[in-house]
Amino acid sequence: MTEDILRITGGRPLHGEITVQGAKNSALPLMAAALLCDGETVLHRVPQLLDVYAASRILNRLGCRCTAEGNTVTIRHTNAESSEIPDADMRTMRSSIMFLGPILGRMRCCTLTMPGGCELGPRPIDLHLDAMRQMGVQIRDDGGKIVCRADLLHGARIHLPLPSVGVTENVIMAAVGAAGETVLTNAAREPEITDLAAFLNQCGAKIEGAGESTVVIEGGRKLTGTEYSVMPDRIAAMTYLCAGAAAGGSVCVSGAAPQDLESCLNVLKAAGCRIGTGSGRIFLDRTGGLRNVRYIRTMPYPGFPTDAQALISAVLCTANGTSVIDETIFDSRYKHVGALLRMGADIRTIGRTAVITGVSRLHGASVEATDLRGGAAMAIAALQAEGESEIRQLHHLDRGYEHFAEIFHSLGGSVQRCRFSAKEREKQSPCA
Ligand code: UD1
Repeated sequence: MTEDILRITGGRPLHGEITVQGAKNSALPLMAAALLCDGETVLHRVPQLLDVYAASRILNRLGCRCTAEGNTVTIRHTNAESSEIPDADMRTMRSSIMFLGPILGRMRCCTLTMPGGCELGPRPIDLHLDAMRQMGVQIRDDGGKIVCRADLLHGARIHLPLPSVGVTENVIMAAVGAAGETVLTNAAREPEITDLAAFLNQCGAKIEGAGESTVVIEGGRKLTGTEYSVMPDRIAAMTYLCAGAAAGGSVCVSGAAPQDLESCLNVLKAAGCRIGTGSGRIFLDRTGGLRNVRYIRTMPYPGFPTDAQALISAVLCTANGTSVIDETIFDSRYKHVGALLRMGADIRTIGRTAVITGVSRLHGASVEATDLRGGAAMAIAALQAEGESEIRQLHHLDRGYEHFAEIFHSLGGSVQRCRFSAKEREKQSPCA
C-alpha cells in the first residue's frame, strides 16, 4: 500500500503566472449532456480529475464510447444503450446525479441509487426527483434502487424552492429531450449553467434565459454533437489567488473569467490585496498585512460561493482583526477548521457561523484533507505557516485540482507530492 502526501514548507511568497484549468463543475454536466446528442461530442479543456474519470466510466457503461487525450474528451454514441447507473459509480461520485436528467431526456427511463455518503452534510436528491415528477416521470423505490420511468416526458412550469445548481442543470437536460416547453423559475444562475446552455444550444437546443432566474427550454429538438471548450474553473482560480493572498507576493491567474469572480475579488480586496483584471487575467498583489473582513455570507451566485468559504477562511487566519463567516448553503462545511486549529488558527464555529480571530502566524502541522475545498484550504494555510506541513488523504484534492503541487511549485512555493509505502511512513514523521 502506498500513500501520497503533500509536503509544504511555508513562509515563501508566491510570484508568477499560472493558467487555470477548465471547470470541474462545468465539465461534468457537459459530459452528461453529451448523452442527449447524436454523433460525436468533443470537449476541450476538460481537467484530468478523479471525478472526470468517474463520469467517463459512467458514459462507457451507459453504452457510449468515451475516450480522453490530454484535456480533450471525445464522446461517441453506439447502439447499445443502458439506462442504469451502477451503485458503485453512484457512490464514488455525488455528481453522478447529473446523469438523471439526460438519461431520462434520451431514454425515458433511468435506474440509479442514492449518491454516496457526504462530506458537506446531507445532500438530498428530493428536489431532483420532484422536478422530474412534474415532467411526467413516475418514480418508485425497488429495494434501494430508484426506478424512474416516463411514458410521456413533457415540458412543465417548475418553480424551485431553492436555486439548486444540480437541479437546474438536470431540469434543463431533461427538458431538452421532453415534448413541449419547460419554464423553470427560481433557477440557479451560476456561470456553469450558462456554459451548459451554451453547449446545448450549439448542439441544436433552444434554451433562453440561462444565467437568469427564469429559464425557458423548448424541448424535442434534434441534438447533434459539437466541439466545445469548457469554461475556466472559477473556484480553482480563487484557490490560487487565496494562496497568493495568504503567502504574500504577486500572482497572475490567466485563462480565467474575472467577471465570474466579482464577489470573491471584492472580499480579497477588503482583506487588503490589490487586484487587477484584464482580458482573461486576474492579478493579485499582497505586500502589506492582511485585514479582517467583517462579514461574509455564502450565497447562490452572484453571491460569495460556498466552494470558496474554506479557502477564504484559511486566508483570514492571519488577518488583523476578527472575521465572521456564515455558511448558508451546506450544513456541515467547517470540517477543515480542525486542521486550521492544529496550525495555530483561532476559529470558533457555532452552527453555520465561523468566527475567525486573526493570529500573528500559523505553524506547520500534519493534517488530513477532509473534503475537496477543505483540503485546498489546508494547503493555503500551510503556505503561510512557519515550518513544514504534511497533508494526507489527497484523493479529496485529486477530485477537483489538476497539477496542484506543480502549480504552487511553479509560483515558487515549496510544495512537494511524495509517495510513501506504509513501511516508510512508519519510519518518517517529519512533522512530529
Ligand atoms: C453544486 C456543485 C458543488 C457546489 C454546489 C454549490 C457540481 C457538480 N457541484 O452542487 O461543487 O458546492 O453546487 O455551489 O456542480 N438540495 C436539496 N435537495 C436537492 C438538491 C439540493 O435540499 O434535491 C440542497 C442542498 O442540500 C444544499 C442546496 O440545496 O443545501 C444547494 O445544493 P446544490 O446547489 O444542489 O448543490 P449541488 O448541485 O449538489
